[in-house]
Amino acid sequence: EKGGFRHFMLKEIYEQPQAVLNTFRGRLNPETGEISLPEISLLPEEIQRISKIFIVACGTSYHAGLVGKYLLERWVGIPVEVDLASEFRYRHLLIDNHTLAIPISQSGETADTLAGLRMARQMGAKIISICNVLGSTITRESHGTIYTHAGPEIGVASTKAFTSQLTALLLLTFYLAQARGTSPEGCRELLSALVAVPGILENWLPKWHKTSEEIAQRFYKARNFLYLGRNIHFPIALEGALKLKEISYIHAEGYAAGEMKHGPIALIDEQMPVVALAPKDHVYEKMVSNIEEVRSRRGQVISLVTEGDETLPEVSQATIHLPQVVPEVSPIVATVPLQLLAYEIAVTLGCDVDQPRNLAKSVTVE
Ligand code: M6R
Repeated sequence: EKGGFRHFMLKEIYEQPQAVLNTFRGRLNPETGEISLPEISLLPEEIQRISKIFIVACGTSYHAGLVGKYLLERWVGIPVEVDLASEFRYRHLLIDNHTLAIPISQSGETADTLAGLRMARQMGAKIISICNVLGSTITRESHGTIYTHAGPEIGVASTKAFTSQLTALLLLTFYLAQARGTSPEGCRELLSALVAVPGILENWLPKWHKTSEEIAQRFYKARNFLYLGRNIHFPIALEGALKLKEISYIHAEGYAAGEMKHGPIALIDEQMPVVALAPKDHVYEKMVSNIEEVRSRRGQVISLVTEGDETLPEVSQATIHLPQVVPEVSPIVATVPLQLLAYEIAVTLGCDVDQPRNLAKSVTVE
């Protein structure tokens, strides 16, 4: 049942090329750049009317939502708020019938996300959920659902569901951008980038796995880890840290790299591994300075850099290479080595990665 893999989590990490493909298959036409999502049963005038988007989710799905904010604001031009469902449901919400709410949930049964959905719906919002489980409660209570089609996810740590959620958010972004006539040209290019992702993951998985094993052997004894990223990779820093803490019980925090000076830099010493997401993008130089700050306090830098970058590997104690991709699909790609790193560290420590202590696959109570 684990298809020859030692754990479901590892099997599911390796299923990501297929999971991402399943999410976009049949929904896009790379030649025309057209997206078809008939499941979003919104009329063109309803789409025109949207003035605000709320994304509501928990855990890993919340991190997908944070990436979604960057995508939607950039390509659709509608302000997006991303809320933890447990906060969303108890705050004063400014929602009306010009609001689109997007609950994101692998299981479709998370209690807080469901409660948030019901509130938003009652206040007049249209609800389009992103979900992996057919017929789950969240899908039944939404106006429409974009299914991720990642296949069943058994490991408690979410892996392929996450990269599929990122894929679904890209599709939704392009769909709304087309419906509202914002940047249709740019979208076409991004679609070809998305179509290339399964092949890229397939190629890179073995290399990433090998590198993660090596890095795990060097760092598994650390009691704390810091993950840093900026812009669209900031949520991936959060996700990398969540993966590590939930399966290895090592304390890990994700931070926006620019926040270092506002507190966390005080933690840095030679005992502190810092995983820095620093692909070549418009905030690359900023990441380089953050890494230098870490180094000057003798922190141990594990950097994720674009292939061909010769600067950062020289100042880093360990390097994970990433393929050159456009920023919009980069979070999907950068996530996979971080899942493998968390996995290898947890396995080295002898942890039960598929069934971590205190955690349930689906949190159906508040
Ligand atoms: O099923 P959902 O996506 O609604 O679940 C949300 C969280 O409970 C889930 O992502 C959790 O954080 C995972 N253990 C993360 O790996």
